[in-house]
Amino acid sequence: MSIKSDFPIFNRQINGHNLVYLDSGATTQKPQVVIDALIDYYTNHNANVHRGNHTLSDEATTMYEATREAVANFINADPSEIIFTRNTTESINLVAYTWGRQNLKAGDTVVLTELEHHSNLIPWYLLQKEVGIDLEFLKLDSTGNVDLTQYKEILKTKRVKLVSFMHVSNVLGTILPVQELVTLAKQNGATVLIDGAQSVPRFKTDVKKLGADFLAFSAHKMLGPTGVGVLWAKRSLLDKMPPFLTGGSMIDVVGRSDVTFADVPQKFEAGTPNIADVVAFMSAIEYLEKFGLDNVEKIEKELLVYAVDELKKVPGVILYCCGDLTAKTGVISFNLIGVHAHDVSTVLDSIGVAVRSGQHCAAPLMKTLGVPATVRASFYLYNDTNDVDQLIVGINKAKQIFGV
Ligand code: ALA
Repeated sequence: MSIKSDFPIFNRQINGHNLVYLDSGATTQKPQVVIDALIDYYTNHNANVHRGNHTLSDEATTMYEATREAVANFINADPSEIIFTRNTTESINLVAYTWGRQNLKAGDTVVLTELEHHSNLIPWYLLQKEVGIDLEFLKLDSTGNVDLTQYKEILKTKRVKLVSFMHVSNVLGTILPVQELVTLAKQNGATVLIDGAQSVPRFKTDVKKLGADFLAFSAHKMLGPTGVGVLWAKRSLLDKMPPFLTGGSMIDVVGRSDVTFADVPQKFEAGTPNIADVVAFMSAIEYLEKFGLDNVEKIEKELLVYAVDELKKVPGVILYCCGDLTAKTGVISFNLIGVHAHDVSTVLDSIGVAVRSGQHCAAPLMKTLGVPATVRASFYLYNDTNDVDQLIVGINKAKQIFGV
């Protein structure tokens, strides 16, 4: 039986067709076990965490903290280093607002790449204006990967304090040479932030081996609920960082005007957290562990090769950075000559195929590619070659409708 049967949404018909979901880069679908966990939490355990002495509160706290442990195990970290946020964006903002404002001074350089998502650009743009930091962008080669020669030159000539980059591009699927980027940064005394939104859901991530300082990712891109992000950071950094949001739960002693803060991770989790979704995230982690990240990688690689092959056969399709498939995940950006990406996407939807079209929150990358927008097909563990075949049917339908 297909793994799709674990995901109730695949019973849906979209415009009279079976759903073909090729937008997992935006968010993944949820298996029944995750949906059940959410219902079970609200049906049987709902209470606030870290506040009550009653049974339900104890249960909710135990379940919430069990997910923290599971997340820590998943990336080989200590539970005290796991901060729950709303999403990857909030995790990166937390670093920029706390560590960034505490440690970055005018003239310090932050190294980014031309691939970055807006979530790893705008927080640093604000610091550029507010503090006067310099930003350097690693350029891309023809495969959509970064230029290490330029990187070494920047590290040699600039006062680099932070290197912040995505492990996997949400637009091109490019896998960056994370180990080299981290090692070189560390040799030059720089702090490293990795946007793991697209990598943690598909590769085994070991923060101890990676050697970075911060890792940000989201539950909803790895079968979990929306509204839960994770910031992992080295304990030594978290201890020194000031709080981000303030209020209930993140304090130790509060006087009339004085306050001391709770230890990490509570120091960074002000207010009532997203308890139900954190609890249900546990089931997503269990599902992924059982399925095996090796299998996720294998499925995506096979689909990538198959889809690129099939797309190359369609006259008028332009593929972006698909020359070297060995350093790519299951993400393909393309355009159909003479048809806007949004129109292609609308035609695909008419036969049940969900893709993303537009800038993909990566406007600077669109500039580098020299296009206003692309169509993006992104795969995950529930996709198969039939889904790719339906994508091709849709592209041919768009060609027919638009006469190209
Ligand atoms: N970052 C998500 C995407 O690439 C939203 O679609």
